Amino acid sequence: MGKQESDDKKSAVPLTKAKNWAALQTHYQRTKDTHLRTLFFDDPTRGQTMTAEAIGLFLDYSKNRVTDETIRLLIALAEESGLRAHIDAMFRGDKINTTENRAVLHVALRAPKTETILVDGQNIVPQVHAVLERMTAFSDRLRSGDWKGNTGKPIRNVVNIGIGGSDLGPVMAYEALKHYSDRHLNFRFVSNVDSTDFAEAVQDLDPSETLFIVSSKTFTTLETMTNAHSARAWLLQGLGGDESAIAKHFVAVSTNAAEVKKFGIDTANMFGFWDWVGGRYSMDSAIGLSTMLAVGPENFYALLDGFHHMDEHFRTTPFERNLPVLLALFAIWNNDFLGAQTVAVLPYEQYLKRFPAYLQQLTMESNGKHVTLSGAEVDYATCPIYWGEPGTNGQHSFYQLIHQGTRLIPCDFIGFYQALNPIGAHHDVLIANVFAQAEALAFGKTLEQVKSEGVPDWLAPHRVFEGNRPSNMILAERLTPAILGELIALYEHSVFVQGVIWQINSFDQWGVELGKVLAQRIIPELESPSEPALKHDSSTNNLIERYRKHKAKS
Ligand code: F6P
Repeated sequence: MGKQESDDKKSAVPLTKAKNWAALQTHYQRTKDTHLRTLFFDDPTRGQTMTAEAIGLFLDYSKNRVTDETIRLLIALAEESGLRAHIDAMFRGDKINTTENRAVLHVALRAPKTETILVDGQNIVPQVHAVLERMTAFSDRLRSGDWKGNTGKPIRNVVNIGIGGSDLGPVMAYEALKHYSDRHLNFRFVSNVDSTDFAEAVQDLDPSETLFIVSSKTFTTLETMTNAHSARAWLLQGLGGDESAIAKHFVAVSTNAAEVKKFGIDTANMFGFWDWVGGRYSMDSAIGLSTMLAVGPENFYALLDGFHHMDEHFRTTPFERNLPVLLALFAIWNNDFLGAQTVAVLPYEQYLKRFPAYLQQLTMESNGKHVTLSGAEVDYATCPIYWGEPGTNGQHSFYQLIHQGTRLIPCDFIGFYQALNPIGAHHDVLIANVFAQAEALAFGKTLEQVKSEGVPDWLAPHRVFEGNRPSNMILAERLTPAILGELIALYEHSVFVQGVIWQINSFDQWGVELGKVLAQRIIPELESPSEPALKHDSSTNNLIERYRKHKAKS
């Protein structure tokens, strides 16, 4: 980070001292009691005007508790926060991840070949395309059966071993794009260090037909390396201990060639990426190798195109029509002014069943921060808790709390006009439900309405829906690889905008370190044949002693 940049960051006006922050607070006090019913009654065109559409995505934001003035002030806050300059800095390759002194260039992963993006004076776009071409060649060989295992059989099973960003993106994309996948290949994903994850993933697989992709940016992550070593042992045991089998059954995706080599994987079978790709922003790098193997290079390139369309939309569209900016501003409004503590992401598309889990890392590892870029403690709430399930399943589980509980839970609904597996009336029923949920959350049902239906007085309060619960509705034609890319990039950039406004670093994750360090200290204490001298707190000491006493003696 240059000194100038550091000085700029230090001199940023604290968020709560920003002119438009104060204006938003005053505005909130003035409007906080206005119900969505009133907003819709006062402006019958609201449902048409408070929408935005671009690159095949439609956003209806009319059911947020906002007025034109709220949006004007939120955009003014974004401008006052220097959002335009921050967007330019990210796309230019400035080292905006200041605590790790790194550029943040996931947008380069989907940049067309003709673009130039410089990191330390070097154009990185040709490197990106060189890896994509190697991935394509490998995918073609494996999918066609030309890549053979050690005994000469083609590969039928692909097991991705990775965790966090090296797992959640690949799993989510595999599930999301299953419709487009080659059903002759089996895909499994192993992430947890719990041995059950590995055991169940391989229990019905033939090692001679199995390829492991060890996916790890650092190639040092405890869970991934433990699973990779177990995979190696399982494979060698199944193939008579022939070490030369590793070259046919293991490939690596990493930034760390030295560690890949040390593990025993030939670096000719390694697909690289770079330190300017954060783990949770890496599913469209070589970390997406399992995705490409599943859906083929053409669909993978279509996914990248979708990401790129959203990048360009984000970079060039005025804030008032900019989908990621709008999504971020409503998130800030709900979080910092309305006091919402969570966001529910509710895709009405079964193929997106792992999308909320993927978004949890993207949002919360990025913006779960309590100090600003200059190290000052924040005096406002940063990232809310993201969670969700596909509809309609969630309706029969936790929606009760969203409708009638005491907490405000803004919802992002995602739906498609067309089903990928149309059968009878299913899709109309599905979409009727998502529209109905958003309607019920916004408008609810008053006591008068309930009573007018003949509900007895004693029961009436239980049947009242307060309404006034905000939601976004995101619609697209159907779930294609390109639309998936757009949706992911929509949230990536929304996370970025929120981070800029909160003045935090969305691209480091120091918060995961302490637990990792402490686990490394505890492992030998659990394994030691003699009683270790424990120096933790009394609770941790007691838990360790108890575990040692009761653990299965192997
Ligand atoms: O523990 C957090 C984390 O560092 C994530 O940010 C990352 O996606 C994950 O671990 C896996 O890391 P790696 O790809 O280096 O194995």
